[in-house]
Amino acid sequence: METNKERVYVFDTTLRDGEQSPGCSLNQREKLAVAHQLARLGVDIMEAGFPISSPGDFDSVRRISEEVGARPNAPTIAGLSRAREKDITVCADAVRAATKPRIHTFIATSAIHMEHKLKMTPEQVVRQSVEMVTLAKSFVDDVEFSLEDAGRTDWTFMVEIVEATIAAGATTINIPDTVGYCQPAQFAAQIRHLRENCPNIAEAIIAVHCHNDLGLAVANTLAAVEEGARQVECTVNGIGERAGNASLEEIVMNLKTRPDYFKVDTQIRTEELYRTSRLICDLTGSPVQPNKAIVGANAFAHEAGIHQDGVLKHSATYEIMTPESVGWTGEGLILGKHSGRHAFRKRVESLGYELAPEEIDSAFDRFKILCDKKKEVFEEDLIALVDDIFFKSVATWELAYLAVNSGTDAIPTATVKLRRGDEEIAEAAQGDGPVDAAFKAIERAIGEDVELHDYRLESVTGGRDALGRVMVALTRAGSTHQVKGRAVHTDVVTASALAYITAMNHLQVQEGLAEAREGETAGV
Ligand code: KIV
Ligand code: ZN
Repeated sequence: METNKERVYVFDTTLRDGEQSPGCSLNQREKLAVAHQLARLGVDIMEAGFPISSPGDFDSVRRISEEVGARPNAPTIAGLSRAREKDITVCADAVRAATKPRIHTFIATSAIHMEHKLKMTPEQVVRQSVEMVTLAKSFVDDVEFSLEDAGRTDWTFMVEIVEATIAAGATTINIPDTVGYCQPAQFAAQIRHLRENCPNIAEAIIAVHCHNDLGLAVANTLAAVEEGARQVECTVNGIGERAGNASLEEIVMNLKTRPDYFKVDTQIRTEELYRTSRLICDLTGSPVQPNKAIVGANAFAHEAGIHQDGVLKHSATYEIMTPESVGWTGEGLILGKHSGRHAFRKRVESLGYELAPEEIDSAFDRFKILCDKKKEVFEEDLIALVDDIFFKSVATWELAYLAVNSGTDAIPTATVKLRRGDEEIAEAAQGDGPVDAAFKAIERAIGEDVELHDYRLESVTGGRDALGRVMVALTRAGSTHQVKGRAVHTDVVTASALAYITAMNHLQVQEGLAEAREGETAGV
């Protein structure tokens, strides 16, 4: 291993900038699972959320700080806060349990934002930034200051505010291209200008945070690294507002694949990239496109005969990195129907899951049923099955029975029986198709009036006997509080019904929790 390389710190903001984008919201158990996986991946800093934004966000940042940030060799846990007193004190409280807590505070610095959004003069912006960095510093040593919309900020003003906030104690200075407007050579020049003109810049790490509106987030990030940026802010699969953020896996694999060019290192365990990407796809219900670099299904597929021939003769003819280096193991066959519970548990643990004994039992029972139904069981199937159990944190209503009738000349009809403890309710409904009929019957049985916002169905692996994975997102009628439910089953109507019931259960539990917490954290 080379040791003379400079380190680039990887700051992951999947749980903050990524999670706040439409359709990507996660519940607390899901956020914790992502946080554990990010720690396994080896990110240096994890932005766990924006604590002032909601009681739920505050709770997630606090729990991630306690459960992930306090472990040995844990990453730094950062919370976001505007440059406002209340944001910073709440953020300090949320990250307190972490061994390495960071407060990340920001204010807009472009003329257009200062004049129209903040309605503040540049002098006021500098004064407030210095005061808030000083306040943050009274809680933690590690303070990051971001110049929102830095990509459209006047360079002389940038240098002035950076110098003042470093003098006030900022240890990381972040230059975001908030609107994804910059071009690589221009952004590189901006970082160079900062390095060459800010007298105390050596006292802080320069970070960059690029959005992808013009498809240049990764290119801009790498151009900045060439000019001395040593913290890269990114998200798994590039999820985030609008066109997203710079993609973590693409930045990391560029740096790893071209050490001759960049001469820097990250501490990311790249073999965890594929699994991390899959987890984000599964939890958000947003798959990556097949040709997505690094983690897309086709990223390592060689279809053209001339390429296949070359790869068979020598893999490096067409492969600049190996699938194994990003953790892509293919659809390797896993345990069969004769495997025992012990081997099964070991396999589940090797995939990074920490399941309770009763969850292992339930996963094992379902695995055996699956082995009877499916000729071949793949690792992807196992992950889908275990995810299904792991993330089904609340099982208020359960599906006891489902029958559907549909066809070219039949009116689609579904009959369901749901169970909650000793209570059982049966209902029937007609719909536009078997899935719609099942959803209507479930709504009647539970007595909820809900609106369906998203329904996605995909097959976990190839083949006619593949598991179908369904994700639904819904709200209670008239409410904006969106919840998701996921399920897998070889029968796609059953998978749909199970996902719908899971979402209904989440709706009831989360709305109850939100009401309970409103009292506790009033004023946040
Ligand atoms: O894009 C942006 O400017 C941000 C800041 C809050 C860092 O996300
Ligand atoms: Zn951002």
